[in-house]
Amino acid sequence: TGAVPFTGAHQAGIVTPAQDRLHFVAFDVVTDDRAELVEMLQAWTAAARRMTAGQDAGEVGAVGGGPYDVPDDTGEAMDLPAAGLTLTVGFGPTLFATADGVDRFGLADRRPGPLTELPAFPGDALDPAISGGDLCVQACANDPQVAVHAVRNLIRLGAGVVSVRWSQLGFGRTSSTSSAQATPRNLFGFKDGTDNLKAENTSAIEKFVWVTDGDPGADWLAGGSYLVTRRIRMRIEPWDTSTLAEQEQTIGRTKKAGAPLGQRGEFDPVDFTAQVDGEFAIPQTSHVFLAHPTNSGTAILRRGYSFVDGSDGLGRLDAGLFFIAYQRNPETGFTQVQRNLRTDAMNEYVQHTSSAVFACPPGVTGDDDWWGRALF
Ligand code: HEM
Repeated sequence: TGAVPFTGAHQAGIVTPAQDRLHFVAFDVVTDDRAELVEMLQAWTAAARRMTAGQDAGEVGAVGGGPYDVPDDTGEAMDLPAAGLTLTVGFGPTLFATADGVDRFGLADRRPGPLTELPAFPGDALDPAISGGDLCVQACANDPQVAVHAVRNLIRLGAGVVSVRWSQLGFGRTSSTSSAQATPRNLFGFKDGTDNLKAENTSAIEKFVWVTDGDPGADWLAGGSYLVTRRIRMRIEPWDTSTLAEQEQTIGRTKKAGAPLGQRGEFDPVDFTAQVDGEFAIPQTSHVFLAHPTNSGTAILRRGYSFVDGSDGLGRLDAGLFFIAYQRNPETGFTQVQRNLRTDAMNEYVQHTSSAVFACPPGVTGDDDWWGRALF
């Protein structure tokens, strides 16, 4: 129920212990006027500052004005606490130049090299209507109404400047981003986030998450991070007809404890040389084998959420994992891991249906600072 500080060297919502709920939204910018875009980012920052502190989006509030004023807050979070709300903003490659190469805002030469559309991966079934975006906001909170309220008010403030391209609700965090948190389970029923990068491991976070001086785009992006989202449909019906042994061999960990196969405890070290009856305890086609830094050569901060978006009209739930990863460079982060997952036994049970990449600027510091100031 507490408030997460909005200001700081880094944006909140990245290494912040993952909250339970997500409302993610990607926008198209519909104006060509740079000043309008800047004004909106300033208005968003002011509203985000207030809402993350548990206040109304505007100073007057939902009911503080006169009966003939349009309220500057929509009201549905009026009696609710901050609920750990974080709002994290990101800029997509198309903000810097459209797919046809049009530089609407004079930003083309500020685009950091790594901020390009992700490459195609085998098995992708991406729907362009729910992929990409010029801007994004990740709203996380422990109360879904608080997250939805925040996104709704940013949309309201952005009228005429941005329009919603796509949005995704998530429940049940599928990662821990702090060692103080218990590991949750994803919709396959497995603990997810055991071997994630954790906030307490500051040297790994510095190395793998934050853009640093000397990196491309560091003049405005240092202290920021790249965000990759992938909406991953999980084929839960075939998964639910597979045996426990098949499921554990697919993941590479036990279902109950989340221990690496061949070990007992969740946090026992992963040992890829351990053998049982002459076979590797952790199969080389398992998700954990292929995703582990020993074999992928890198690490990412995972911060995803489960989703169930109704059903697909064919008698199946439209369910899965809205995968979110933060990294210092998408090429040596998500892309490198995902390429290594091409032989993952789990691929039989998942399909990626949307994809997006954004550069998230550093945190807002003083009272006059605003999201992306160093970029504009
Ligand atoms: C680990 C599930 C997609 C990267 C894990 C674990 C589970 C899991 C159960 C083991 C527990 C843990 O250490 O967190 C899933 C499911 C996915 C999915 C259900 C899709 C629906 C992905 C994708 C990537 C990824 C797309 C990146 C491209 C990782 C990494 C680890 C991991 C880096 C840690 C491996 C280690 O260090 O041992 N995942 N995952 N996962 N996953 Fe995934």
